[in-house]
Amino acid sequence: MTHLPTEFPDFELTPEQRRQAVRTHYWERPGMDGERGEIWCYTDRFSYRAGETVALHVSSTAPIFGIAIIRDGGSETKLFEKAGIAARWQDTPDQCSVEGCGWEASFEFRIGDDWPSGAYRVTLTADGRNGQPIHCHQLFIVAPQLGQKPGRVLQIAATGTWLAYNTWGGSNHYEGITGVNRDQYARMVSTQRPWCRGFVVLPKGAPRVPLEVAVPPKTVPRYPHMEWAFATGHSKKYASSGWASYDSHFFRFAERAGYAVDLASQHELHFSPEILDGYDCVAFVGHDEYWTWEMRDAVDAYVTRGGHAARFAGNFMWQTRLEDEGRRQVCYKYRARAEDPAYRGGDVTRATNSWEAPEIGRPGSATFGLNATRGVYAGWGGCAPRGVRGFPVYRPEHWAFAGTGIYYGDLLGADSHVYGYEVDGLDFEIRGGLPYPTATSGAPEGLQVLAVGMASQVEESADIPLKDQFLGDEDGRFTAETLFGEASDANLDRVKRGNGMIANFPRGKGEVFHAGSCEWVAGLLRQDTMVERVTKNVLDRYLGKT
Ligand SMILES: [Fe+2]
Repeated sequence: MTHLPTEFPDFELTPEQRRQAVRTHYWERPGMDGERGEIWCYTDRFSYRAGETVALHVSSTAPIFGIAIIRDGGSETKLFEKAGIAARWQDTPDQCSVEGCGWEASFEFRIGDDWPSGAYRVTLTADGRNGQPIHCHQLFIVAPQLGQKPGRVLQIAATGTWLAYNTWGGSNHYEGITGVNRDQYARMVSTQRPWCRGFVVLPKGAPRVPLEVAVPPKTVPRYPHMEWAFATGHSKKYASSGWASYDSHFFRFAERAGYAVDLASQHELHFSPEILDGYDCVAFVGHDEYWTWEMRDAVDAYVTRGGHAARFAGNFMWQTRLEDEGRRQVCYKYRARAEDPAYRGGDVTRATNSWEAPEIGRPGSATFGLNATRGVYAGWGGCAPRGVRGFPVYRPEHWAFAGTGIYYGDLLGADSHVYGYEVDGLDFEIRGGLPYPTATSGAPEGLQVLAVGMASQVEESADIPLKDQFLGDEDGRFTAETLFGEASDANLDRVKRGNGMIANFPRGKGEVFHAGSCEWVAGLLRQDTMVERVTKNVLDRYLGKT
């Protein structure tokens, strides 16, 4: 086992700064760097195909900038570079997170016919007013062309979740400056704004959400990732979502391991589901929380026809809607029943609520086998901070574990901490030492539970003063109300004990494998051989190699 420190890491913040790092809302906005000056940019879309033109919208205090574009995969390849491009400062509306920045396009370039599918990091550099360089990072995806793709994996980036957590401009689906008191999270978020700092690229060793600290009982929780964000000028949500914290680790691992991987955004799933045709294996990774109805239709149809969905991801929670040709994502979340027009004469099955709201009639388990409200937090705050770290394995003889040497009762990925910080599960029972989904769990026919760990919907509080609780029981109460109609103590007790699973099931001519944890990618980042082996077993089988 990894030897863990017993002290929280220290980023040289005062106690008051540590409080601000966790308790206050802070975000990227024009003018935030003061006298030094700034450069910001966004692309008009998340993804493009070869031959298409990218419009880059730039706002800069410097009159000229340089651009470099690097493909960020198993290795880094520079594809484009240009200096001396003209720029200007552009006005930004106060509610840009919701409405978009509305900047004019500053520079256009064409995706080369020979640019392989993948993630492309754009770095803009200019001179600050103090003579020091200023820069910004942006990311776009080159999606594959249609056609037969024997032996290739298609990874779908969790762009709906990136958008939901993007702090740029002040509002996202968690916190915000909307509403009369400027204290409401945004029900609508725009793609027309830069990514927040830390979504595109991060220094090695940036803290992840799950604690790498052996916390003694009764310790008041601390949140190293938010302290680090505050101390270094990164987004408060850098560790919750984004290419840099999540999707990149799978993509780079797969390329380095010799797989041919293509990348698409969730916008392709929604608007051009035919992108899945021709692939034997489609992968979903990381923190993958926000989906539309149409995206699920695409995956369900693909698997039924004989496709293989490999999901190494957690928190399949919210239905969203896309508007304005995909430039706006809508999710009313906790306020859905009160505010979403889907409940007032609209189509209630499209309500932007938890997938498990009974009125929607389409729990997440119907697509990926597991549900978010039966899972949730593990390994941080007051939610199992001394928990398992890896998946407790119950069915080691399953093909996914071939060659790992793992036994019944062993932990998969504990050293690399793959279990957390949000996990997906099912109501289950143990018979003869083996887990089975209960009859009312929503598990698809034929689902096998391979591993189960514990998780919590509420922060345990007996030893922690109320003022030091971060998660509290808010999410648990919401789940209680969503599932059972009332956020009562009795209903809270019915939902608060969650779990996270690895599951596998057939659908039609195809199959789904689901390791339901956001942090699976930590095992790939940290080169945990057992986690790598399971990942390869799944990809190899689904590509028809074994
Ligand atoms: Fe989440």
